[in-house]
Parts: sequence; structure tokens; C-alpha cells
Amino acid sequence: MLRLDEIAKSFGGLKALDQVGFQVQPGEILGLIGPNGAGKTTLFNVISGILHPDSGKVFFREQNITGLATHQIAKLGLCRTFQNPAIFEEMTVLENLMAGYHLQGRSGFFSAILKPPWERKEERSIRERAMEMLSEIGLKGSAQAGAGSLSFGKMRMLELGRALCSHPELLLLDEPAAGLNHNETEELAEYIGRLRSRKITIIVIEHDMSLVMDLSDRIVVLDQGRKIAEGAPKEIQRDPAVLKAYLGEEDWIKSLRR
Ligand SMILES: Nc1ncnc2c1ncn2[C@@H]1O[C@H](COP(=O)(O)OP(=O)(O)OP(=O)(O)O)[C@@H](O)[C@H]1O
Ligand SMILES: [Mg+2]
Repeated sequence: MLRLDEIAKSFGGLKALDQVGFQVQPGEILGLIGPNGAGKTTLFNVISGILHPDSGKVFFREQNITGLATHQIAKLGLCRTFQNPAIFEEMTVLENLMAGYHLQGRSGFFSAILKPPWERKEERSIRERAMEMLSEIGLKGSAQAGAGSLSFGKMRMLELGRALCSHPELLLLDEPAAGLNHNETEELAEYIGRLRSRKITIIVIEHDMSLVMDLSDRIVVLDQGRKIAEGAPKEIQRDPAVLKAYLGEEDWIKSLRR
């Protein structure tokens, strides 16, 4: 589904990514972990086209997508969410989701908001599908609420729902559980687990170790821009290089051993 070949990205003198390479198989949930500043988000930015790598290549379903623009990559079926939920706070919850559907529809998002008559039919079907997605993510009751008035956890679900509207084959989730309470985290884990049955391939960056270890088929660990380990969750928890990278972060080590 995805192959990264020797990705490098520097900011000034800082090597944020240093020859990072790995593959993701179709249908797999891959956990991407590593201490703060390890380069995880930068890697998502490179995969999704927000940043272009200094060197190295990104292949999505065998196609070289290195250097393509974000909207071109999204159209190919590769979507992401952000560490800080990227939602349109001034719009309603329903409108936020409809924006997701317009990514794959014929009519552009802004023309759809203005609603010329020839696009009303497409608009209706998009509205219906958006309402279905709202019930799926538990936000049906908030359809007409301003997206900016949602709790942080619900904003995250909304952003995830919007990413799913465009029917991605590969979904990149950047710390989906950050800022969620215990119940919200459990609901999210269950929901992400269910996406597996829809054959959506997922890469998830997450600091909540029990969540990422339970959810992932495989884990890749970054530290200071380099891949230091790759393997099954059980192997990763015992990997000396991983434990060393997390040295001094007692909570992390404790949760790794849970
Ligand atoms: N646009 C940028 N300009 C300059 N430096 C950047 C930029 N983006 C990231 N960095 C730096 O690159 C390094 C990797 O950052 P990145 O955000 O990818 O880490 P991360 O693994 O996602 O960390 P966290 O777990 O804290 O989110 C950090 O040292 C960061 O300060
Ligand atoms: Mg990050």
C-alpha cells in the first residue's frame, strides 16, 4: 500500500528525517511511535505532500507520489488527520463533513456552498451520506451545531469522520487520542478497530502506548529522525534500542511493559 524509500528531510541543520524507509501492507494497522521531536509528524507531512523530502521516494500503491500536491495525493485515496484537529470552526458540524464528500464529488466545495441549481441533486446525496457518517461517529445530534462549539474529543471524531468521507484507502492519524478522556479513548480505539473490517489501511502516530500496542499489527519506532526499530508490538516492547530512546520517560517505559 505504501513504501517509503530512504526519506530525508532537514530543517536548517536539523535532520528531522534521516534515511527513513519502511513498507505498509494493505489492510494493516501500523503504529508509528517515538519520543517528542522524533520526526513522526514530519514523516506524515512528507507522505501527504505538505512537505517535499530532500531526498528519497514515497510510493502509494506502486505509484511514485513524491512531489505531488496534497490535493492530488488526497484524490488518489490517501487522507490524514492532524495533531491539532483541522476543522472549519465557523461552519456547522454537518457542513464540515460535507466538505469531506466534496473532495470526491464533481462539484467543488465552494461552489457547492453557493449551490447553483445543477448541483443541487449531488448536494442532496452528499447531505444524506454526511448524515449517515454523523450517526456513525456519534455526532448526529450535533449536526447543526457550530463545529467550534464541540468538545475537543468530538472535534477529533469530526475530523476523522471527514477524512473517512473521501473513502481513503490509506488513512494517516496523527495522535488521534491526544486530549481525549478515558471513555473517549476507548470509543476511539473501538472505532479504529472497526475500520479494519472496511479494509482501510492505517498508520497511527500515538503516545498512548496501551492504545497503539493493542491496535497495531506492527510498530515502527523513530528517534531523532531515524528508524530505530520495526516489528510486532511484543518485540518492540522488549527492544533495547526502544527502551533506551525512552530513557528518562518513566511513564512511557512503564506503559511499554504493561
Ligand atoms: N516546519 C519546521 N521547521 C523547522 N523545524 C521543524 C519543522 N517541523 C518540525 N520541525 C522540527 O523537526 C523535528 C521533528 O518534529 P516533528 O513534529 O516531526 O516531531 P514529532 O515526532 O511529531 O514530535 P511530537 O511527538 O512532539 O509531535 C523537531 O525537532 C521539530 O522541532
Ligand atoms: Mg507530532
